[in-house]
Amino acid sequence: MRRTHSLNQGWKYLPRFDEAFLRPDADLGDWEAVCLPHASAELPYNAFDEASCRLVSSYARDIDFGAEAEGRRVFLDFGAVMARCDAWLDGEPIGSHAGGYTPFSLELTGRAGAGRKRLVLRVDSREDPSIPPFGNVIDYLCYGGIYREVSLRIQEGAFIGDLWCRPAKVLEREKELAVEAAINAARPLAGASLLFRLERLSPQGRPAGLVAERDVGLGDIPPGAGASPIAVRFEGLRDIALWDTDSPELYRMTAVLRAGGGAIDEIHRDFGFRQAQWRAEGFFLNGRRLALRGLNRHQAFPYAGYAMPSRAQARDADILKFELGVNIVRTSHYPQSVHFLDRCDCIGLLVLEELPGWQHIGQEAWKDSACRALEEMILRDRSRPSVVLWGVRINESPDDHGFYARTNDIAHRLDPDRARGGIRNFPRSEVLEDVYTFNDFIHEGGKKALRLPRKVAGRRMPYLVTEHNGHMFPTKRFDGEERLREQALRHARVLSAAGSIPGIAGAIGWCAFDYNTHREFGSGDRICYHGVADMFRVPKFAAWAYASQVDPRRRVVLEAASFFSLGDRSALRILPVEVYTNCDSVVLFRDGERVGEFRPDAESFPGLLHPPVVIRDFAGERLDSLGLDARGARTVKRIFGRFASMGQWSLRLRDKLALGLVFLRNRVKRGDAEKLLWRLAYGSGAKEDAIELVGYLDGRQAIRKRYGSGAYAARLLMEADDAVLSSGDWDCTRIVLKLLDQYGNLCPFAAEAVDIEVDGPASVIGPRRLPLLGGSTAFWLRTEGRAGAIRVRALGGRFESNAVEIAVSQAAGSLDCPYPPA
Ligand code: GAL
Repeated sequence: MRRTHSLNQGWKYLPRFDEAFLRPDADLGDWEAVCLPHASAELPYNAFDEASCRLVSSYARDIDFGAEAEGRRVFLDFGAVMARCDAWLDGEPIGSHAGGYTPFSLELTGRAGAGRKRLVLRVDSREDPSIPPFGNVIDYLCYGGIYREVSLRIQEGAFIGDLWCRPAKVLEREKELAVEAAINAARPLAGASLLFRLERLSPQGRPAGLVAERDVGLGDIPPGAGASPIAVRFEGLRDIALWDTDSPELYRMTAVLRAGGGAIDEIHRDFGFRQAQWRAEGFFLNGRRLALRGLNRHQAFPYAGYAMPSRAQARDADILKFELGVNIVRTSHYPQSVHFLDRCDCIGLLVLEELPGWQHIGQEAWKDSACRALEEMILRDRSRPSVVLWGVRINESPDDHGFYARTNDIAHRLDPDRARGGIRNFPRSEVLEDVYTFNDFIHEGGKKALRLPRKVAGRRMPYLVTEHNGHMFPTKRFDGEERLREQALRHARVLSAAGSIPGIAGAIGWCAFDYNTHREFGSGDRICYHGVADMFRVPKFAAWAYASQVDPRRRVVLEAASFFSLGDRSALRILPVEVYTNCDSVVLFRDGERVGEFRPDAESFPGLLHPPVVIRDFAGERLDSLGLDARGARTVKRIFGRFASMGQWSLRLRDKLALGLVFLRNRVKRGDAEKLLWRLAYGSGAKEDAIELVGYLDGRQAIRKRYGSGAYAARLLMEADDAVLSSGDWDCTRIVLKLLDQYGNLCPFAAEAVDIEVDGPASVIGPRRLPLLGGSTAFWLRTEGRAGAIRVRALGGRFESNAVEIAVSQAAGSLDCPYPPA
């Protein structure tokens, strides 16, 4: 039977390479002890020279394969190494791999056995122009190192090399499942059989009932890797639950290879029964039209770059689905971690996965490498229910008939069941794919939000917007309110256009999280501030444009695109305020008095399921108590609204005269009138200028938020994403710090410095002294491979945070898969 052992621990690392390191007795005394995933260089948060991660480095590890490896087949399985690596065992070359985003295996059969052996890897993280995405400029960093996991696999002479699940007739009562397995046999294998076992999985990802089983006699298997694929078909499958975004039911197919009277290998694939169809009218999941609302994700994190373990990868999927409320993610611009994709399968987040590359197409060797990466990606992920589209073109590259005929062929050959797209940034490109996938950056803040699909594609065909906004309006989370608000509006406008223009399947915005980049891009500090959340995954206002679209039965959202401060916008403007919410209406109170009830602005955002509620009036019913005549009250509200939204300089002479007349008619003295205006607009003289927003659903109060112009920093809140971490290899959790005001809102411009104190078996990734950026920051805490209790606190000049306690235990496995998560 196969045995796999984690090889993540016990490595030694040196940020340079020398042939002398290949000697089995080379002294590793001054090498750093590291655990994988590992970044070849830890980077500062920003303002660094990206050349610092372009290096050639060495990883070494002593291994005793033990008696179990004797006479068996032995493999090293790598999740990914950036960008090229060569490996030696006791000085003998054992293989190499080029391409930084896909898995590969090195076979050590015949060389592994009992006794210490020295494994050395030369990892070249320079931007080699023969490997995609390199060869020209790129708007993201690719980092370096053995940044995913490595394991040791010991097999018998024959094993199951691949298992592929292809559900069919999924909308029929009796469903079908085609399964293909490939046997990898070193020598001819006689009298073998394969047992296929189909089981339902529980929400926690554990087998929860046998559905069907088949034993297939294989006869004699010739030697070779996957020489003779074995296909079986399950028919008449009843009572099968569909995999859908709201109910991601998973099944497990286990294959057991038997020969000579015993089991010699066993593997499984988790998959789902679902139908994904791309039609000219849109995307259909299980026969139901689903408007796609998504974000692009780069797999990068502050300091560690790509090198983050499973929990952080999976958490990103949760953030996308449960915090940002999207139903699809694009893995821009490369295959991403299996932990991220496992989580997408498990929580029902759809995926557009693409091959590595960015705008540039290289020479033949480069194209070969791209095709290899595409194959490796599809072979790895083709059973996943979450993946609904393959991206088979280099992002935003020009047409290249020969190359793209090849990538389309590969995808079609390896996975004829799944649609293909290829991300373009120009209209009327040659289409060899099923879906015209287009980056549409036409929106500049005006009326035009998206192009018409037919004009771009040149014909009626399935059409998906794969990027919008991004560089058109970079926005820092600590920017002023006007900019944050405009970024949110731009995303909302495009989402609305995607929802109202016929023939658009949906839109995937650029992008989920800010990311480190090359000097040619971003704000000059090596960050592209294009995210709807920052690099720490802390949301900006634009995040609410997405989050507010979720079904309120799942989560009630009410977030104002305002800090309700009185002078952050230019010319003392305070209105309008968009409230991103999925409530039916919002009632506004100010200074304890009701202003009015406001409804979603469906006129401005006709394509949104839940348009924002736009508040254009801060006076409203508060004027009633003044006893103004009805006409006068209307005039005051109108002029007041302009005054507040466009600044006091917007008051024209005729507005002043009109106001004067109203006050004269109603016998309000000039001084009192002025006082009234200032009180209503700026809360002058109020005991506490509190703003209260109350969201109503089906006539009932569903959510309540308070803000106030008198906000001040009241406490430093520390929150961890996880309370229990695993003591195996290394694990991590994100810890977010927020300086909150007395209402519980973030102090948006607070700039305190804090020191992080950690007691217990963990350390901080990156610096331990951190500035709050716009009132918040976050860091990841990494475990040290042993159990214990961790206690974390942050100490600032003015504030001390609450303490967060985290248990590190052997029992904490990987993430469970509850839906929705607890
Ligand atoms: C696109 C590109 C993305 C990113 C984005 C910024 O053209 O595909 O990778 O650079 O622009 O808005």
